[in-house]
Amino acid sequence: MAKDSIWTGKVAIVTGGSSGIGKAVANRLSGIGAKVLITGRNAHRLEEAAAGHDNIEALQMDSSEDGSGERIAEAATGRWGRIDLVVNNSGAGQPLPVDAYDASVIAEMSALNIVAPSQLVKAAHGALRECRGAIVNIGTAVSRNAAPMLAHYGATKAALEHLTRSWAIELAGDGIRVNAVAPGPVKSGALTGMMGLPEEVARQVEEQETAQIPLGRRGVTADIVPWILRLGSPENEWLTGQILTVDGGWSLRN
Ligand SMILES: NC(=O)c1ccc[n+]([C@@H]2O[C@H](COP(=O)([O-])OP(=O)(O)OC[C@H]3O[C@@H](n4cnc5c(N)ncnc54)[C@H](OP(=O)(O)O)[C@@H]3O)[C@@H](O)[C@H]2O)c1
Repeated sequence: MAKDSIWTGKVAIVTGGSSGIGKAVANRLSGIGAKVLITGRNAHRLEEAAAGHDNIEALQMDSSEDGSGERIAEAATGRWGRIDLVVNNSGAGQPLPVDAYDASVIAEMSALNIVAPSQLVKAAHGALRECRGAIVNIGTAVSRNAAPMLAHYGATKAALEHLTRSWAIELAGDGIRVNAVAPGPVKSGALTGMMGLPEEVARQVEEQETAQIPLGRRGVTADIVPWILRLGSPENEWLTGQILTVDGGWSLRN
């Protein structure tokens, strides 16, 4: 049984809600009374993520497809009649040295990190305006500095952060707050999934990153979730257009 809270009866969309940060956000929101629509491509993982949560509904959807935003927003309004929060969480990134540049890979990253959130924000705008809702975009601490081998990941996430500031102004008149959380290295499915690294390489990357983090460890999803909830909360009435870096101090030194 979900606890009563300021989220009781509120409706949230979390793209990429079947793993890692998105799944942890969806679980937390549903645990405190919100209805949550999660999306992702893999039906089995979505089913598993929604299982046992009365308040979580899953929609199989590749966010990089044209028209995904409308279908996601319609699924939420069709089921619950409102949208209070959009968390643009699904993202794409992979190591890409200059000699490996490939137009289709760069286009895919742009489609997921820039086009997909834009489509969803457009499609959800009317419902968010009615609820005076919020948008939280998930960037990355990688975009704070130069990112050799991850330049397009950093650049497309930096674009999402720029969109965050621009949407904050465009939507302020509707009472919609738009912010972003930029996590540092967090334990999730990202290194072996999104980044496509073999297990052994992923382990080495984890060790290197841990050694670089001033607060002495990699993040876990529980380090990120409260900030997403706080920025997306109806209680946050007066903070907009901000990018909150949550990375144990990592990007201060890199
Ligand atoms: N973990 C980190 O260290 C870290 C650091 C900074 C920023 N981030 C950002 O945090 C966000 C979440 O990453 P995570 O670490 O939680 O990764 P994750 O555990 O790999 O989860 C990614 C989620 O996104 C979904 N997804 C991937 N491509 C999709 C697509 N085309 N359409 C719809 N859903 C898609 C995945 O499901 P399917 O594969 O089934 O589609 C999964 O549910 C990303 O935007 C990432 O860039 C992560």
